[in-house]
Amino acid sequence: MARATWSSKLGFIFAAAGSAVGLANIWRFPYIAGNYGGAAFILVYLLCLALIGFPVFIAEVLIGRSTHTSPSGAFQRIGRTPFWAFPGKLVILTGFLVSSFYSAVAAWILGYLVEAVMGSLSTLTSPEQAIAYHAALMGNPLWGLGFHLMFMTLSVAVLLSGVRQGIERGNKIMMPMLYAILLILVVKGLTLPGGMEGLNFLLTPDWSAITPVAILIALGQSFFTLSLGQGTMVTYGSYMSVRENVVTSCLPVVLMDTGVSIFASLAVFTIAFSAGIKPDSGPGLIFHTLPVVFSSITGGYFVAVLFFLLVFLAAITSQISAMEPTIAYLMDEYKWTRKSAALVCGLGALLLGIPSALSTSWLKDYTLFDLNFLDLMSDLTTSIMIPVGGFLAVVLVAWKWGIPNALKSLREGSEALFAERPWIADYFWFTLKYSAPVLILFVFLNAIGIFY
Ligand code: ALA
Repeated sequence: MARATWSSKLGFIFAAAGSAVGLANIWRFPYIAGNYGGAAFILVYLLCLALIGFPVFIAEVLIGRSTHTSPSGAFQRIGRTPFWAFPGKLVILTGFLVSSFYSAVAAWILGYLVEAVMGSLSTLTSPEQAIAYHAALMGNPLWGLGFHLMFMTLSVAVLLSGVRQGIERGNKIMMPMLYAILLILVVKGLTLPGGMEGLNFLLTPDWSAITPVAILIALGQSFFTLSLGQGTMVTYGSYMSVRENVVTSCLPVVLMDTGVSIFASLAVFTIAFSAGIKPDSGPGLIFHTLPVVFSSITGGYFVAVLFFLLVFLAAITSQISAMEPTIAYLMDEYKWTRKSAALVCGLGALLLGIPSALSTSWLKDYTLFDLNFLDLMSDLTTSIMIPVGGFLAVVLVAWKWGIPNALKSLREGSEALFAERPWIADYFWFTLKYSAPVLILFVFLNAIGIFY
């Protein structure tokens, strides 16, 4: 059977944007931007995208597009030695591990969406009430497990339908919905009394907050948000035709991803400020703070439903992209059918996700290095495996394959662009060969504690 491809350039753009836009944009970005200097943090973050995120993204898509196979075979073919199959398998494993705990976390979002629909989130009038409500839900093992099962089932249902009918079509429906909801929330936030203060907060740079830690957080964020180092972009690139322009296919994805992070911050800040709450309360922001706001504003019920629907859509389109590398691997290397591969991958991630789903209830006292199972999986992948995977991809492209080969491949489909703007080749030479690998190494050494 012929290998699947996207139906068009837009198919890739929507799928990759769906993958990139996720919990990291809507949940994490607002509170880290709030904690680390608002506009100043955003500026540092944009620099990180230009020097690391975008070139690694391009490197991964190129590896996939040049080989049309799953990351395992793709790394090996570009590296031309059996050794390179290992990094390929490592990134597939990373995606699989991410999908197991990501589902456990996305389960809370799905659970909160149901709470919002039932009206419970618009009746919490004080932060103490919201915190107690959140603690009660998180402490209920059946709540965590049930929504983990439901979220995984929905993800597998999309994946079973294939690359075009499932991933591409699903993203083409869900991503515009996501943008529309985000727009409604931003407009609502800006028009709330006091909401403008949120805009001022976001636009006022606090340069004193730009510490080395803030820079490293910006670097790590640029990596996780683009779904790098987990086999996703190699696999999505492998469904792309060589006639497509890689640069102009990837640039809109980065712009959309960044736009969502900034607009999500705007929505969260304006909504929070309108209730007199400063949005630097950390990861609990959307569970502890926002419900209090939803309970105090007009139309709070609808805002709550739309908000959690937005986060849910962002999460599911990322979840399927973390599972697809494993599915592609089983199909390409072992000739499994998509149905068997998707079911086995879904079942495996479901089972492995169970301890993560129970990490806030039954298993909350079981820790290793002071981390519960969920935090352990999250730290292992985001702080170690993802930077290693991204580093190996960019080293493979720039140092093993070589810049002349990489640029030759990048030019295929982008001839006119390179002819009109010759500096693009210099930009990729510098970022692929130097800035990206060196800065990733820096993030990685920090993550494993070398700088402490
Ligand atoms: N890129 C996905 C996110 O931002 C994993 O959550």
